[in-house]
Amino acid sequence: MIRLLSVVGARPNFMKIAPIIDELNKDELKKLPAVEHCLVHSGQHYDELLSGKFFADLGLPKPDVNLQAGSGSHARQTAEIMKRIEPVLLDYKPQMVLLVGDVNSTLATALTAVKLGISVAHIEAGLRSFDMTMPEEINRKLTDAVSSLLFVTEQSGVENLKHEGVPDEKIFLVGNVMIDCLLRHRELAAKSPILDRLGVRLNGSGCRPYGVLTLHRPSNVDDPKTLQGILSAVSALAVELPVFFPIHPRTRKNIESFGLVRYLAHAEGANRVGVVPLDPLGYLDFLSLNDGARIVLTDSGGVQEETTVLGVPCLTLRENTERPATVDHGSNQVVGVDPDRVLAAARSILGEPARSSQRPPQRPPLWDGKAAPRIVAILREHLQRNGLA
Ligand code: UD1
Ligand code: UDP
Repeated sequence: MIRLLSVVGARPNFMKIAPIIDELNKDELKKLPAVEHCLVHSGQHYDELLSGKFFADLGLPKPDVNLQAGSGSHARQTAEIMKRIEPVLLDYKPQMVLLVGDVNSTLATALTAVKLGISVAHIEAGLRSFDMTMPEEINRKLTDAVSSLLFVTEQSGVENLKHEGVPDEKIFLVGNVMIDCLLRHRELAAKSPILDRLGVRLNGSGCRPYGVLTLHRPSNVDDPKTLQGILSAVSALAVELPVFFPIHPRTRKNIESFGLVRYLAHAEGANRVGVVPLDPLGYLDFLSLNDGARIVLTDSGGVQEETTVLGVPCLTLRENTERPATVDHGSNQVVGVDPDRVLAAARSILGEPARSSQRPPQRPPLWDGKAAPRIVAILREHLQRNGLA
C-alpha cells in the first residue's frame, strides 16, 4: 500500500491538485501496490469564494482533514500550519507528501514533513523570479531545497535547479498540472452563464470586447501609490472597453482603506464601462470570462499560464515573471506597473486585429494536459524502487 498525503490551502492549489487526484482515482492505476491518498486543507484560504467554490467546480473530494489555520502574518500563518500538520503526518505516516505551488501552506508542510523524515515531492518546482522580496520566491526556493522529487513545468525551471546544484536524478520536466486542469474543464466552462450575467455580447469580429483584471500581489496592492497607479491606468483603458475586475479580498480591503473606490465603476450600472468590480469568481466562471476576453491584465502566476494556452493577450503587471515560457511561447508580456507603460501596451494590443484573425498561440512543450499521469507514474516508480511501497 502506498500512502500519499497532500496539503492544499490557497486558491491556485486547488486547480493543481485536482488532476493529480483524478489520476490517483483512475481504475487503471488501482494496480498493486494500491494508493491511498489523504487530502489536507490548511485553511489558509477559508472564504467560500476562495476555497469551497473550487471544491464544487473541480469535483474535488471533501478534505480528509481541515487544519483551519486561517490568516495571519507570514510567521504566524506558517507556524500555525506547521504545528497543526505535524500530528496529522505522525498519525497518517505517508511514504510521501505531495505539495503544489509556492504558498505558505506549501513551505510549512515541506519543512514539517522533511524534519519527520518524510520525503516531499514538489509539483511546480524550479520556477524563479529572482526577486526575494516576493514571499512566493522564498517559499519556492526553500521547498525545492528540501524536496526529493522536483516536478517542473517548463525548461527554465530545470536550468534554475541545475544552477542551484540539484542533481539531475531529482528533476523531472513533466509539464503543467494547471493546464491539465484547464483543458479538462474548458468545455464545461463554456456553459457558464457568466458572460450573459455580465451582459457582454459578441461583436462583429466574433470577439467580446472586454478586458479582465486581477491583482493580489503584496507589491502591487499593499502600496497605495502603486495600487493607485495601476487602477488609474486600467480605468483610462476602461473608457474604451469594460474591464471586469474580480477582486481578491486583500485587494478589496486596500482599495477601500486607501480611498481608491473612485476608480471602480458602479457594478450595477446600466451602461457597463469602466473597471467593473466583481466578487472573486469560481474557476469555471473565471475560465469562461478569460477565454472570451480581448485582453487580460494580471499579477497572478496562474493566469499568465492560462492565458498562454487560451491565446488571450496578457499583460503582467510586475517587473519580472518566474514563468518565462509564457512570454517565449505564449501571449504574455511583462510590462511592470508604470501607468503610462501599462496603458501604451494595452492600447497597442487593442490596436491589433482581434484574436479570431490571429495565428493560434504556441504552447510551451508538455503543456498538453498530461502532466498528472506523468507525475503519478514517476511517483509510483520512485516509491517502488526505493522500497517505500
Ligand atoms: C496567497 C499566497 C499567494 C497566492 C494567493 C492566491 C502566500 C504567501 N501567498 O496570497 O502566493 O498567489 O494566496 O490567491 O502564501 N483573506 C480573506 N479570506 C480568505 C483568505 C484571506 O479575506 O479566505 C484576506 C485576509 O485579510 C488575509 C489576506 O486576505 O490576511 C491575505 O491572505 P493570505 O492567504 O495571507 O495571502 P494572499 O494574499 O491570499
Ligand atoms: N481564479 C479564479 N477566480 C478569480 C481569480 C483567479 O478562479 O476570480 C483562478 C485562475 O483561473 C487560476 C488561479 O485562480 O487558476 C490563480 O490563482 P491566484 O491568481 O489567486 O494565485 P497565483 O496563481 O498568483 O498564485
